[in-house]
Amino acid sequence: MRFRCARVALALVTALALPGCAGGGAAKTRTTGAQAEVPVNAGRGRSIYLAQCSACHGRDGTGGQIGPQLRNEHLKRTFAQVRDIVLDPEPPMPKLFPVRMSGADVRDVSAYVETL
Ligand code: HEC
Repeated sequence: MRFRCARVALALVTALALPGCAGGGAAKTRTTGAQAEVPVNAGRGRSIYLAQCSACHGRDGTGGQIGPQLRNEHLKRTFAQVRDIVLDPEPPMPKLFPVRMSGADVRDVSAYVETL
């Protein structure tokens, strides 16, 4: 169910439904809200990925010397789960938020990871 929620959020290419996903699926959609202006941007997420993640996870997500591969991560984890990992990763993955990445960066890079 959380998977579907994330898929719907991505399909809409909007930040509107994302708070609903974060809340454990309690609210599926939200039609009004202050965060609504900025849509999820997986294209922007790609450049963030290349700058912040590819050294460990590989340029195409095929894995590197340090990080596991992220190819087909969407089959294992929803957008919200990927985002939660980036927000609060297990060592040795570094915590890049909020010093090196903004909330929007985390959101966009997580959307990009779901396309790998
Ligand atoms: C310094 C290397 C490093 C960097 C930089 C890094 N990661 Fe990781 N990442 C790891 C390691 C190592 C793991 C495995 C952690 C574990 O053992 O649970 C991991 C795990 C993950 C996982 C879970 C993978 C799985 O299937 O278990 C995701 C998702 C992820 N990273 C995404 C990202 C994203 C997105 C970025 C960039 C914002 C990033 N990582 C940056 C090293 C890194």
